[in-house]
Amino acid sequence: MSEPLKILFVCLGNICRSPLAEALFLDKIKKKGLESRFVIDSAGTNGIHDGEQADQRTRENALKHGIEIQHISRIIQKSDLAKFDLIFAMDKENLRNIHRLTQNSAELDKISLLLDQVEGINYREVPDPWFGGEEGFELVFNLLDKATQKLLEKLEK
Ligand code: 4NP
Repeated sequence: MSEPLKILFVCLGNICRSPLAEALFLDKIKKKGLESRFVIDSAGTNGIHDGEQADQRTRENALKHGIEIQHISRIIQKSDLAKFDLIFAMDKENLRNIHRLTQNSAELDKISLLLDQVEGINYREVPDPWFGGEEGFELVFNLLDKATQKLLEKLEK
């Protein structure tokens, strides 16, 4: 059997967008019995919320849709860039933050904006929901649900 594909989702605080992307992708591969083909994780670029559960508003919104988030926030490490095969940033700010950690061109090639990897979504960035209301969390959920579905379809081909 081939090695599992290692995917890291990255946002700023690792308490709203990227742990949700991780949980949604995990849910989809579990439903298809594909867990053994992937290693999925998430991280943040600022470390402010290290060791915390995902944001309560994100967890409650996800639960409304039947998704439970287990992740504990952690800051991205240089070693993650060597370890993971694909690294998906939620927005351009975090793409730049990850780029600063790269040590060679092979690492640079692994990193992209999540929404650039999938077609049919009218956003390039997953907006930060932190300072907004419930509708922002719902938008993030819908964007990430679609993006992770399309990503899985693409990787399964
Ligand atoms: P995330 O959202 O990057 O999607 O986890 C944020 C969480 C916390 C903060 C900013 C964004 N913050 O400024 O503390």
